[in-house]
Amino acid sequence: MRWDVHYVEQTGSTNADVLALARAGVPPGTVLRAGHQTAGRGRLGRTWEAPVGSSLLASFLLPAEPVPFLAVARVALAAAGACRDLAGVDAALKWPNDLMVGERKLAGVLAEADGGSSTMVVGIGCNVAWPPLDERPPHLREGVTALSDLAASPPTAGEVLTGLLDRLEGWLLARPDEVLDAYRRVCATLGQPVRVELAGRALEGTATALTPSGELVVATGGTSVTVTAGDVVHLRASPPPPPG
Ligand code: BTN
Repeated sequence: MRWDVHYVEQTGSTNADVLALARAGVPPGTVLRAGHQTAGRGRLGRTWEAPVGSSLLASFLLPAEPVPFLAVARVALAAAGACRDLAGVDAALKWPNDLMVGERKLAGVLAEADGGSSTMVVGIGCNVAWPPLDERPPHLREGVTALSDLAASPPTAGEVLTGLLDRLEGWLLARPDEVLDAYRRVCATLGQPVRVELAGRALEGTATALTPSGELVVATGGTSVTVTAGDVVHLRASPPPPPG
């Protein structure tokens, strides 16, 4: 993959911008990074907020995958590798798209289809250099962490992007089973008691497996439920993942 990286100081959403670029015909490998987003998009229709200049906010135009979860997994694994190698921070993955350190979120990944069949957009927001806790907006203090909270000399957002793209080249070449196995190894959700918040209801049980399509299997009350999308709450604090 030849990466063609662009930077803007501010935009609404890099995912929205790369979706528009895809419709205009730019090739896979196009990357847009922003210093700040005014309408950052999160999963399940949420917004994604970060203090100005504090985060890696970037979107990648990637080849479409028959299993879209694989694109999320490739980017999440590349980001976790970059955080480990550049900052010494071991992040675990919370199904489906979060990088976590303990129970605090370090990064989130969002895949969006571009309406065509050959490409898809995957964006990441990774908290890199956040202000001290008492200077953060109150609603961004709980359950959030940043590389600057965890590393003595954290990399810059640009360095994290370069490290991520280097590793993403390799993950884009990996077979689906290799990607899923790697995801399972660093997934803090598997084996955990969980509550999954679905549209209008919640499910409690133990997360037992990840299907080849990236769905989460939850054993509950003698049956197994396969979950395609939802918010997972880990009901037991997870230990840090093993190194490597
Ligand atoms: C999540 O809900 O955890 C996913 C968050 C994804 C946020 C990133 S920031 C860069 C890119 N542009 C967006 O509008 N969203 C993604």
